[in-house]
Amino acid sequence: MTDTGEDWQVARRRKGAGKRTKSPQVSSSASTCCQEQLDIEKTVKRIRDTVSELRCEEFWLQWREQLMVAASASLPNPSENKDTEGQLEKGGEGRQWQQLQCVCYGLGSFSSCVSARYQLAMLLLLLEAGQIAVKDCSVYDPVFSCAENDVLKELGLTVLTENEEGKHLVTRPTLFYLMHCGKALYNNLLWKNWCTQHLSLMLIIGNSFSGMRERTIEREFQRDYIYISKAVDLCQETQLSCPSRMIDVFSDTAVITFPSNSLSTHPQSTWAESPEPLYQHCPDLEIILKENRTVSGDG
Ligand SMILES: C[S@@+](CC[C@H](N)C(=O)[O-])C[C@H]1O[C@@H](n2cnc3c(N)ncnc32)[C@H](O)[C@@H]1O
Repeated sequence: MTDTGEDWQVARRRKGAGKRTKSPQVSSSASTCCQEQLDIEKTVKRIRDTVSELRCEEFWLQWREQLMVAASASLPNPSENKDTEGQLEKGGEGRQWQQLQCVCYGLGSFSSCVSARYQLAMLLLLLEAGQIAVKDCSVYDPVFSCAENDVLKELGLTVLTENEEGKHLVTRPTLFYLMHCGKALYNNLLWKNWCTQHLSLMLIIGNSFSGMRERTIEREFQRDYIYISKAVDLCQETQLSCPSRMIDVFSDTAVITFPSNSLSTHPQSTWAESPEPLYQHCPDLEIILKENRTVSGDG
């Protein structure tokens, strides 16, 4: 478990990680477009073993409970959503989650980074607990190798091929899972959904917005991350605990929601002006932009 929260650091590749494949079950695309080869079956098994390990953790049970409470309190009642009526089971503790889709950005290289593997395992556990179909979870990180993409597909997840830069427009209740991601990803996500209707459909598991504010110079926070800065006062954050030996993996994680009754108390001016973030003056931009795109906002 290596990477920590706020430092911008692409997940590190472990020494010798590229030498692991001996068996014939290597990624087919890895052989054509990647230098790294990976034993897909072995990697999937390792991830599933990690899921089993996390499932027994006391802190996971607390997370599950807190998430259930947050989802029930904030997201629209499933029976009010005509689009998803057919998917609902009656009763059961997953009732409030069943209409959720999921988007995960910034996991990192889970085949070589232990933190990223644990975070991926936690994602699978969250989907299971929320009874969210694995295929309804889209994952993206520009650092994923082709072989890692194959592992994700083998797990049943939907791998996005386009770098959305976090600008994912919400049309249905959606769980976002952004573990230790750069502020620009969150800021872009908030910008894209900057209205009461869309924000109220979002449930984010990621870094605490108030923690980001505390750790960032106020002037820069306001200038570069205006949507996070405003969201601190609009959202409801519940800190999720983790044992000290998992600090590198799950530190500073919160469940963040935007209850519509609280959003509606804010003046119309909150939503009036919402220019796209450009990050022109941001020296340490913590996001990988689309290819052929610069921070000037073109393209
Ligand atoms: C600080 S690392 C965190 C990695 C891992 N979650 C961890 O905690 O070790 C931030 C991650 O965000 C990813 N990232 C950067 N730009 C991104 C983008 N446009 N879309 C999705 N992920 C992105 C990086 O590649 C990197 O893996």
